[in-house]
Amino acid sequence: MNDANTMRAISQDVLGGPEVLREVRVGRPAPRPNEVLVRVRAAGVNPTDWKHRATGGFLGEPPFVLGWDLSGEVAETGIGVAAFKPGDEVFGMLPYPFGHGSHAEYVTVPARALTHKPASIDHVQAGALPLVSLTAWQALTEYADVRPGQRVLVHAAAGGLGHVAVQIAKARGAYVIGTASAGKHDFLREIGVDEPIDYRSTDVTEAVRDVDVVLDTLGGETSVRSLRVLRPGGIVVSVLPVGPPEFYEEAERLGVRAVRMLVEADRAGMEAVAELVESGKLKATIAGTFPLADAAKAHDLGDTSRTTGKLVLLVD
Ligand SMILES: NC(=O)c1ccc[n+]([C@@H]2O[C@H](COP(=O)([O-])OP(=O)(O)OC[C@H]3O[C@@H](n4cnc5c(N)ncnc54)[C@H](OP(=O)(O)O)[C@@H]3O)[C@@H](O)[C@H]2O)c1
Repeated sequence: MNDANTMRAISQDVLGGPEVLREVRVGRPAPRPNEVLVRVRAAGVNPTDWKHRATGGFLGEPPFVLGWDLSGEVAETGIGVAAFKPGDEVFGMLPYPFGHGSHAEYVTVPARALTHKPASIDHVQAGALPLVSLTAWQALTEYADVRPGQRVLVHAAAGGLGHVAVQIAKARGAYVIGTASAGKHDFLREIGVDEPIDYRSTDVTEAVRDVDVVLDTLGGETSVRSLRVLRPGGIVVSVLPVGPPEFYEEAERLGVRAVRMLVEADRAGMEAVAELVESGKLKATIAGTFPLADAAKAHDLGDTSRTTGKLVLLVD
């Protein structure tokens, strides 16, 4: 294989800590019908990356290349792709969970998972946004249908997912309650949180009531306890796909709704995200950027669960 047919990628042969990640050269994929080959310029790193690195998750045994977020340029289009041409700047999320592989120089993507990158943002922003924004968009608009004046509680509002969910809920006209440790409350106010709550000193599930929508990013007991803060007919959307069965039983008993979801790749959702970006209503806070070769450092930081905003890999 000569260099033109290969690319750099972050791979792993075993499950484990960040140290199992290594840069390798692998064959460059070719786009199949309805696919686009993207030259990746930036790619977000998400909790699902470090969870899959450690446990294999939905993917099973390595070797595999992680990464679902991407922003970059179209290098080549497969048969049938009319929406994009080589050179177009695009961003999106690979089909979750089985379409992974953006922590690499190139990746093939179903054209339907992409949209044009707004010219007003750089690849770092565009690479940070897709997975968390689509998750928040699907949770808050498709499952919960947040409307103006509703009360929305976002757990872990300073995290990658939480901080975009806050902005999307505000863009829908909601009153937003958000949890974070006290040192992050100025940040929460800056992104639009109306009522920051320190989860270390206050049990938010005791402290707030009459909530229409909870975005549960913590899972476990928090999912179940969050049902209590809802108004009749309110909804907890949990992004932890597995959890206690009482979640559904308790929701039925209380006359509220309980949903667990996994994000799905979707161009319509990405177009909504692009519109929010263009109208100045959605912006990622960048917790740190790392060259592709330093992916392990990004995982190290992510593993702490203390970052504010998003970690992003830069692919030169
Ligand atoms: N189902 C799906 O499709 C889907 C999609 C996206 C994300 N997720 C899941 O959603 C979760 C959050 O993702 P993320 O990207 O936001 O993670 P993240 O960026 O790693 O979250 C870090 C933030 O969590 C906060 N935090 C930690 N423990 C907390 C607690 N007990 N209460 C309130 N805040 C707390 C931290 O704030 P402090 O420093 O103040 O503690 C920190 O700012 C992950 O488990 C992820 O896998 C699921």
